[in-house]
Amino acid sequence: MKITLLGPPGAGKGTVAKALMAYDGSVQISTGDILRAAVAAGTELGKQVEARMAAGDLVTDELIMSIMEQRLQEEDCQQGYLLDGFPRTLPQAQALKALLQKLGEKLDCALELDIPRDVIIDRLTTRRTCTNCGEIYNVKSKPPRVEGICDVCGSEVVQRDDETEEAIEHRLEVYNEQTAPLIDFYRDEDLLVSVPTSEMEAVMEAIKSRL
Ligand code: AP5
Repeated sequence: MKITLLGPPGAGKGTVAKALMAYDGSVQISTGDILRAAVAAGTELGKQVEARMAAGDLVTDELIMSIMEQRLQEEDCQQGYLLDGFPRTLPQAQALKALLQKLGEKLDCALELDIPRDVIIDRLTTRRTCTNCGEIYNVKSKPPRVEGICDVCGSEVVQRDDETEEAIEHRLEVYNEQTAPLIDFYRDEDLLVSVPTSEMEAVMEAIKSRL
């Protein structure tokens, strides 16, 4: 399966991607995780994007496309992939379409997680993330077995830098302005599948009926 996951911050894209990955062996490609790893490692890329990410702004289309052009041609992508957080703007969606055409590939669907705003705010303020492996937790719905420690790798579990109230509000505005138009783009491409939940059973049903 080659799927892009659409939805506002906190909709559950990362959670759904990880569950789907376990289901069919597709690889999760999260541009947010790639950028956060660069920030944590203190690379040139990390230094370039750190301030924008903490403020909840998008990084440039050029930078994202240079990362993704390379990433989508790596060996593990042959089995299929789940794009989590990419594309994020119309220019990125158009560039992805052109890139896939060049590679003789195409997306199977764009899966939109259409989650109400109050649920999103609640999820983002209660989310916790592993600093090492990126496992996603939630203090209400999925706490780690030992508080602050990742069940998977034993590293520290923390709140992300972009989870202040101000940054969350700004990320939602940025989503509405720059990413929400992709819903019409993928509807026009006849690739859009919308689900009003990120519960795995409903998500799997929607994907299976689409494929
Ligand atoms: P990114 O990392 O992509 O963040 P995001 O899109 O804001 O999405 P999140 O990771 O916050 O949420 P999610 O939808 O994955 O939800 P999750 O599964 O964690 O991007 C971060 C930044 O990087 C951007 O602001 C930008 O600066 C930059 N960037 C990244 N990609 C870019 C691009 N393409 N172009 C430009 N800039 C880019 O779930 C949230 C919580 O809800 C968790 O606690 C989870 O446990 C819980 N939860 C999930 N599902 C359920 C459920 N069914 N029931 C109960 N709880 C649930």
